[in-house]
Amino acid sequence: MPSSKSSSRFLLIILITVIGLISFVFIVLAITRNSTRSEPLDPVAKNSAQEKIELGRDLFFDTRLSKDNTIACVSCHNPQLAFTDGKALSSGVEGRLGFRNAPTLLNVIDGTSFMFDAEIKTLEEQAIVPIQDHAEMDIAMGDLIRKLRSIPDYNERSKAIFNKEFDASVLTKSLAAFQRTLISKNSLFDKFIATGDSSLLNESQLNGWSKFNELQCIGCHKLPSFTDYQAYNIGLCSEYGKDQGRFRVTHDTTDMGKFKTPTLRNIELTAPYFHNGSVNSLAQVIQQHSWNYEFPLNVDKRVRNIKMTLEDEKLLIEFLKILTDTTFLINDSDSIVNQ
Ligand code: HEC
Ligand code: HEC
Repeated sequence: MPSSKSSSRFLLIILITVIGLISFVFIVLAITRNSTRSEPLDPVAKNSAQEKIELGRDLFFDTRLSKDNTIACVSCHNPQLAFTDGKALSSGVEGRLGFRNAPTLLNVIDGTSFMFDAEIKTLEEQAIVPIQDHAEMDIAMGDLIRKLRSIPDYNERSKAIFNKEFDASVLTKSLAAFQRTLISKNSLFDKFIATGDSSLLNESQLNGWSKFNELQCIGCHKLPSFTDYQAYNIGLCSEYGKDQGRFRVTHDTTDMGKFKTPTLRNIELTAPYFHNGSVNSLAQVIQQHSWNYEFPLNVDKRVRNIKMTLEDEKLLIEFLKILTDTTFLINDSDSIVNQ
C-alpha cells in the first residue's frame, strides 16, 4: 500500500512538472514570437510612414495633378502665406475662378470637419474634391491615376510603400500624411499658455485675450485650434446668392448661411477673410461679427449679443496678432525650394 501511494505521488509530481514545462515552453514561444513579430516591423513601419509623407509632399507640389499641368495644391495653398493664396477667390486651370477663399492647411491634423460646409470628415476624402473640381484641377480621378501610374518614380514608390501600383488611395493617403505634418503651434500665445507667464504679453495683448473670452469669441473659435469645426451663421449677408453655406450640402433651411468657423491661428498672414474673401482687414472682420442689424435667419445668438467699442476692436486685433507663428516657414523651406 505505502509503495503504491508513494509511486502515485511520484507520478503526480512528474505530471505537474511536465505540465509546468509544457506551459513554460508555450509562454517562452509566445513571447519570442511576439517580439520577433514586432521588432523587424517597427523600423519598416517608421520608414514607410516617412516615405509616405515625402511622396505626399512631392504630389502636393506637382502641377501634373491638374488637367493641363498648370495647377498644384501648392498653387492655392502657398507655405509663405500660411498655406493660403492671398486671393479673395482661388483660381484654377485656365484661370477659372472658384467661389470660395482658400483656407490655411496648418494644423489640419486636428480637423474634425473640412471645407466651409463642415461636411467632409477626412483629409483623404477632401483631396478628391479639388482634383475633380472644374474651377480647380479639373481632372477625372481615373485619368489622373493613369497619368501618375505612368510616371515610374511615383509607381515605384507606391509599390515600395503600399505594396501596390499607384492608385487613388495611394494618392489620397500620401497627400493626407503630408498635410498632417503641417503643424504650427509655436506662437507667442502658445508660449504664454505653456508657461502661464503673463509678463510675455504687453497690456493690450493681455486685455485683448480677456476681451476674446468676455465677448464669447472663444465659444466658436475654441482652443487649441481657435475653431470648433462647426458651421454657424454670423449674419454676414441677408441674401445668400450662389453660396448658401452648409445648406448647399444638407438642404436643411436651418443651415442657410452657415459656414465652418475658421481657425484664427496665423490670421495676420491669411487675408483676405471670410468664405468669400470679401474683407481685407481684421478690423472689418471684427466689425462684421457685430453688424447683423437685420438679424437674418439663423444668426447665432452669441454673435447677436456681441456689443463692441472701438477700443475693444483694437484690443482684439492686438490679441489676434500674437497667434502668428512663422516657424513653419523655416520648417518648410525645402518645399519652397522644390517648387
Ligand atoms: C484652385 C485652388 C485650389 C487648389 C488647386 C487646391 N485647393 Fe484646397 N482649397 C481651396 C479652397 C477655395 C478651399 C475651400 C473650399 C470650400 O470650403 O468649399 C480649399 C479647402 C481645402 C481643404 C480644407 C481645409 C479646411 O480647414 O477646411 C484642404 C485640406 C485642402 N483644400 C487641401 C488641398 C489639397 C490636398 C489640394 C491638392 C490635391 C488642394 N487643396 C488644391 C483651393 C484650392
Ligand atoms: C457663433 C460663432 C462665432 C463667434 C461667437 C465668433 N465667430 Fe468669428 N467666425 C465665425 C465664423 C462661422 C466665421 C466664418 C464666416 C464666413 O466665412 O462666412 C468667422 C470668421 C472670423 C474671422 C475671419 C477668419 C478667416 O480666416 O476668414 C475672424 C478674424 C474672427 N471670426 C474673429 C472673431 C472674433 C474676434 C470674435 C469675437 C468678437 C468672433 N470671431 C466670434 C464664428 C464665430
